[in-house]
Amino acid sequence: MGTGFVSVAYVLASVLFILSLGGLSHQESARRGNLFGIAGIVIAVGATIAGVNIGIGGISTIVLALVIGSIAGLFLANKVEMTQMPQLVALLHSFVGLAAVLVGFSGHLEPLIATSGAEHSIKMVEIFLGIFIGAITFTGSLIACGKLEGLVSSSALTLPGRHAMNLVALGLVVALGAWFLETGSLSALIIMTCVASVLGIHLILAIGGADMPVVVSMLNSYSGWAAASIGFMLGNDLLIVTGALVGSSGAILSYIMCRAMNRSFMSVILGGFGQTSGGSGAAVVDTDMTVQESSIEEVCEELASAQSVIIVPGYGMAVAQAQSAVGEITKLLRDRGIMVRFGIHPVAGRLPGHMNVLLAEAKVPYDIVLEMDELNDDFPTTDVVLVIGANDTVNPSAMDDPNSPIAGMPVLEVWKAAQVVILKRGMASGYAGVDNPLFFKDNSRMLFGDAKDSVDKLLGGLRAV
Ligand code: TAP
Repeated sequence: MGTGFVSVAYVLASVLFILSLGGLSHQESARRGNLFGIAGIVIAVGATIAGVNIGIGGISTIVLALVIGSIAGLFLANKVEMTQMPQLVALLHSFVGLAAVLVGFSGHLEPLIATSGAEHSIKMVEIFLGIFIGAITFTGSLIACGKLEGLVSSSALTLPGRHAMNLVALGLVVALGAWFLETGSLSALIIMTCVASVLGIHLILAIGGADMPVVVSMLNSYSGWAAASIGFMLGNDLLIVTGALVGSSGAILSYIMCRAMNRSFMSVILGGFGQTSGGSGAAVVDTDMTVQESSIEEVCEELASAQSVIIVPGYGMAVAQAQSAVGEITKLLRDRGIMVRFGIHPVAGRLPGHMNVLLAEAKVPYDIVLEMDELNDDFPTTDVVLVIGANDTVNPSAMDDPNSPIAGMPVLEVWKAAQVVILKRGMASGYAGVDNPLFFKDNSRMLFGDAKDSVDKLLGGLRAV
C-alpha cells in the first residue's frame, strides 16, 4: 500500500479515536464510542501491516502474534469479573511500558533508519526518554496490579528519606542520559532501565490505599506517553497521536480523581497518604458504641412508605453482583410513585465509572443516576438512603476528623437523611481501612448479609407489601 493511503488511513483512525473518546464520556453514547474505537484500531492495524515492506514471512509473524494476542484477550475478557477490571487494566498498562522498553532497546541496537547530526541526537533522546517512561510504567503498573489484587499490601510504604531517594534516582538518570547522549553506551541505557524500574516500584509502593484511584488513572496516562514515545522511536505518527490522546485523557482523569478526593496531584504522586495499617483511622470509633440492626420487613416498610429514596452503591454491590435486583427494586418503587435516585461517588468501586457501568447493565435509567455534587444537598429532604456495599465514600470522618487518613475527601452526606440503611456483611472497613462512624449514628440501621441476598429478599418483601 502506498504511503499516501497509509497516511489517509492513519488520519481516519485518529479521527475515530477522538470520536471514541467523545462517545465514552457519556453513558448514552458509550456503546457508539466503543464501536468507533474498534473501527479505528482495525483500520490502524490493517494500514500498518499493509504499509510495511516485510515480505510474507514478516506478515505471517504479525498475523500469528495477532491471533495469539486475540485469543489471550478473548479468554481474559470472558474470565475476568467486573471487580477484577482495575487489576487487569493495570496489567495491560504494564504491557505498554514493557513494549516501550523493548522497542527502545531494539531501536538502539538495530536502528531502522541511519541518522546523523541533530537528527541522531533527537533519536537518542527519544530512545532514552521512551525507555525511561516505559520502565517506570512497567514496574509501577505491576505493583499497582499487585496492590489491587491484594498480593502487595495496600498501605503506603513510607521509607525514611524517600523523597531524597527519588531525587537521587532522578539525578542519576540525568547523569546517565548525558553519558548515553555522549557515547551511545548500552551500559548507560541498561543501568538507567534498572534505576527507572526501581523508581517505578518505589513511587507506587509509597502511595496508600485511599489514593489508588489516582494511581490507576495516572498509570493510564503514563502508558499513553509510553506509547507516544514508541511512536517517536518508530516514526509512526498514528502511535504518537494515539499515545498523546491516552496520555492527556489519563492526565485529565487523574486531575478529576484528585479533585474528587480533595488531594493535590503532587501530594498523591509523592506518596505516603492514605495508609491503611491501623493509624488514626482505627481510633475514630469508640469501641463501646453499638450498632442498631434492622430486618428485611422493617426496611421494606420504610421503603414502601417513603416519598424519596436515594441508593448509594459501592464496591460491595459489585462484589455481590446485586445490580440487577437493585434495578428491579428501583423499577418497583418508581412504579409506585416513589422518587428513587442514585448517588455516585467519583471513586466508588475500584474503577472510574464502575458503578455507572453496573447500573447501566441493570437498565437503571441514566437520568436518575446522579453525581455526588448533584445530590449532596438533597439528603436532608430524603426519607430513606440505602447504602449498598459502600463504605469509604459515605464515611463522615472524612469531614469531621482531621486526623483521618481520608480527611478532606468529599463524601456523600447520607447521614443527613431521615433514615439510613447500610447493607453489608459485617463491620469490616472499606478499601482505605478506616472505621466508619456512620454505622453508629442514631438514624443508621445495619442490614447485615451479602448484598445480593439482602436485595433479593427486599425485592420479595416489597412485592408482598
Ligand atoms: P469500600 O469503601 O471499599 O467498601 C466496600 C464495602 O463493601 C466493604 O466495607 C465491605 O464490607 C462491603 N462488601 C464487600 N462485599 C460485600 C458483599 N458481598 N455484600 C455486601 N457488602 C459487601 O467501597 P466504596 O465506598 O465503593 O469506596 C471505594 C474505595 O475504593 C475508596 O476508598 C476508593 O478510594 C478505593 N478505590 C477506588 C478506585 C476507583 S478508581 N474507583 C480504585 C482503587 C481504590 P463487609 O466486608 O463488612 O461486607
